[in-house]
Amino acid sequence: MPPKVKTLFVCTSCGMEHPKWSGKCMGCGEWNTLEEITVSPAATKNFSAASAISSVRSNLTAPTPINEIDITNEHRFDTGIGELNRVLGGGIVKGSVVLLSGDPGIGKSTILLQVSGNIAENRNVLYVTGEESANQLKLRAKRLRVNSEKLLVLSQTDVLAICDTISGSKPDLVVIDSIQTMNLEGVNSSSGSITQVRECTAMLIHLAKSLEIPIIIVGHINKGGDIAGPKIMEHMVDTVLYFEGDRINSYRILRAIKNRFGSTNEIGVFEMLENGLTEVENPSAMLLSGRTSGISGSSVSCIMEGSRPIFAEVQSLVTPTGFGNPRRMSTGFDYNRMNLLLAVLEKRCGMFFSNLDTYLNVVGGLRLDETAADLAVIFSLVSGIKDAPLDDDIVFFGEVGLSGEIRSVPRATLRVLEAERLGFKKCVLPRSCYKQLMSATIPDSIELIYVRTVREAIDLVF
Ligand code: TYD
Ligand code: MG
Repeated sequence: MPPKVKTLFVCTSCGMEHPKWSGKCMGCGEWNTLEEITVSPAATKNFSAASAISSVRSNLTAPTPINEIDITNEHRFDTGIGELNRVLGGGIVKGSVVLLSGDPGIGKSTILLQVSGNIAENRNVLYVTGEESANQLKLRAKRLRVNSEKLLVLSQTDVLAICDTISGSKPDLVVIDSIQTMNLEGVNSSSGSITQVRECTAMLIHLAKSLEIPIIIVGHINKGGDIAGPKIMEHMVDTVLYFEGDRINSYRILRAIKNRFGSTNEIGVFEMLENGLTEVENPSAMLLSGRTSGISGSSVSCIMEGSRPIFAEVQSLVTPTGFGNPRRMSTGFDYNRMNLLLAVLEKRCGMFFSNLDTYLNVVGGLRLDETAADLAVIFSLVSGIKDAPLDDDIVFFGEVGLSGEIRSVPRATLRVLEAERLGFKKCVLPRSCYKQLMSATIPDSIELIYVRTVREAIDLVF
């Protein structure tokens, strides 16, 4: 009797599995996202690394007391790129699987080739490319000055063959570029389909765990839905990194959105140059460069990205509405939160935006998700409506509440010290942060302006 083929329905948006088809996904509530997949039991049989996996599996069945688990050999590789190490939580962990995704052309292959080059200085690296030929890869490597005999390139898309190569040569790091081009024999659908992506990833994860080899997998973002996006893989891998930024702007932000081995709120900032991605060690200086003075609507905010304070310019343009409803637009800041802050200004400060078009923009492609950015947004809007420029050397942070009060934010001392280091002379901050700053030694060169409400702050600054 032929082996029984199992059928499942997987949501292309969140990856949840359903035994039966339905119009709406029970996991994320999206409509028409379920896709039928067949799980073939034969798929994993004819593969020599499978024996390695099963031997490891038998060892894993015995439970171990937690105080006897040995973590002294938890090993992290230095990737040779400080910003990437920071995002990973200190380097690549042995046996971990990292998913790197981002828009096409953002620099995924570039950074991975650079990392491979760095690690291949004293370890073996296998770079599997399914997208480019070995020649194309060599051209890129030349540009990046990567030329090590320990970096092996394999142009292959058959996952079983790749697994055999890995289990045979046991490299110290494997890069798979990209999962959408891989296919597993015995799985009845084309490369890039949700079934293939799922099965190939599962196979690679088993291999990584059993042989303790870290694998970095590239996954493409797809909004269409018919080609599998990396969403489904996010549940399976240990770490998910997103490369953000636009192609016109040369700055790129690397963000961890899931990390089993570190924090998820660290970011790494890079710049794409002629010979690859270079680290930007001082992102605030980069984000604030090119700022013109004496223009209304521009203010500077300070937000925490992980353990690092980042300064960014918030711009707003407030103009009379031509006709009809006023337009409101926000880039880099939550649209609904902007509307909330506009309502606070109307109700608590008597500034009316109802017949004005309001556009808000955060310079440099950064997203201000922390509520500490509220005060800078408020000042950008007020400066815009009053058409009165703010001083160049003033920075704002604080959360704004619905009654117009300015609320405390964490790590005020760190923010103030960094502002002083960057040359700011004045800092407007919540009164309730006073306690946090009392115990710290703040240089005299920065004046601290404590405020309780938005109205008080506006009176003090303008
Ligand atoms: P790539 O790494 O191929 O993107 P992805 O793998 O995410 O699709 O990046 C390609 C872009 O980067 C391409 O537009 C050219 C640019 N680039 C540089 O500007 N400098 C370089 O040194 C390299 C290698 C690429
Ligand atoms: Mg690529």
